[in-house]
Amino acid sequence: MASKLREKLEAIKSKALADLSAIQSTAQSESFRVKYLGRKGELAEALKGIKDLPASERPEVGQFANRVKRDLETAFQDRRKAVGSSNARIFIDITQPGVKIGRGHLHLVTQAIREIERIFLNIGFVRRRYPEVETDYYAFEALNMPSEHPARDEWETFFLQNPKSKTKSNQKIVLTPHTSSGQVREMENHPLPIRMMNISKCYRRQIDINHVPMFHQFEGLVVDQGIQFVHLKGVLEYFCREFFGEKRKIRLRPFHFRFTEPSFEVDVTCGLCGGKGCRYCKQGWSELGGAGMVHPNVLRAGGQDSKRVTGFAFGWGVERCYLMKEGLLIPDLRMFYQNDLRFLEQF
Ligand code: DAH
Repeated sequence: MASKLREKLEAIKSKALADLSAIQSTAQSESFRVKYLGRKGELAEALKGIKDLPASERPEVGQFANRVKRDLETAFQDRRKAVGSSNARIFIDITQPGVKIGRGHLHLVTQAIREIERIFLNIGFVRRRYPEVETDYYAFEALNMPSEHPARDEWETFFLQNPKSKTKSNQKIVLTPHTSSGQVREMENHPLPIRMMNISKCYRRQIDINHVPMFHQFEGLVVDQGIQFVHLKGVLEYFCREFFGEKRKIRLRPFHFRFTEPSFEVDVTCGLCGGKGCRYCKQGWSELGGAGMVHPNVLRAGGQDSKRVTGFAFGWGVERCYLMKEGLLIPDLRMFYQNDLRFLEQF
């Protein structure tokens, strides 16, 4: 008797499990429930047989029957959940508000370039672009740095193989290490008066918290009759007022560049401490970049009569200048190019 009932329960279980896996809809799962697990379902009917068993066999078969019932119930609940959620995905609530697509913005370096460009266009400069892959001639030689001159070492240059070159040193190709390489090209290609703003990428073999191998510079060049040092100072002060705000001051420190004479480095009061001196700037000043009166040799290389015309030039790093904006505390220049949205979204 007992073993017959067990077999019957086993059979119900395996049939029920097979049926269960075929269930695809909520309606099907409801008829399954009625058929197997309902009050008049197959399981309930079979369980009625227990009371006809001899008392000694009842507990064991009863336990077995309960286990079958529990297993089926859990399997049923699981299946119902799975079917329920896959059914739910079919319904689309067309009244729900749409998903907003995040709006990006320009990279902070592009923002800075546009701002710098605007500032100089406002006072009559013209924006130019000169080659990033440049000859040694325009990058160094025409700028009063003959080959083998030790001053070249400062520029940590990337050299390229020039397929056309024979042996002449001025046929060598470099990734331009500064925007000054546009100076002689500008003079060769445009009549006076020259007021150019060359903003472009530069490359140097340097990487640390203050340097990245690819960065941007903006180069101003003004050449005409009667250009004097005061014009240079006026333009630099104007730029700093516009870019950094009224409160900041600049100073010119004598320096040496081969392509300007006299030459200066330009400092601005620190944007964090306002010039008092802090642990970032030490003395209250941060260095922006170089400037000076165009060297007569450079004017001559550009085809100018260095007795008649004079000029001034300056070349500063875009990223470096951006770092000096008031209240900005960007600890590492490399962060500009790590493409970390947590950083970029703050600008
Ligand atoms: N080209 C220089 C550099 O990359 C910066 C510079 C200095 C540019 C003086 C100039 C200048 O035009 O007059 O370090």
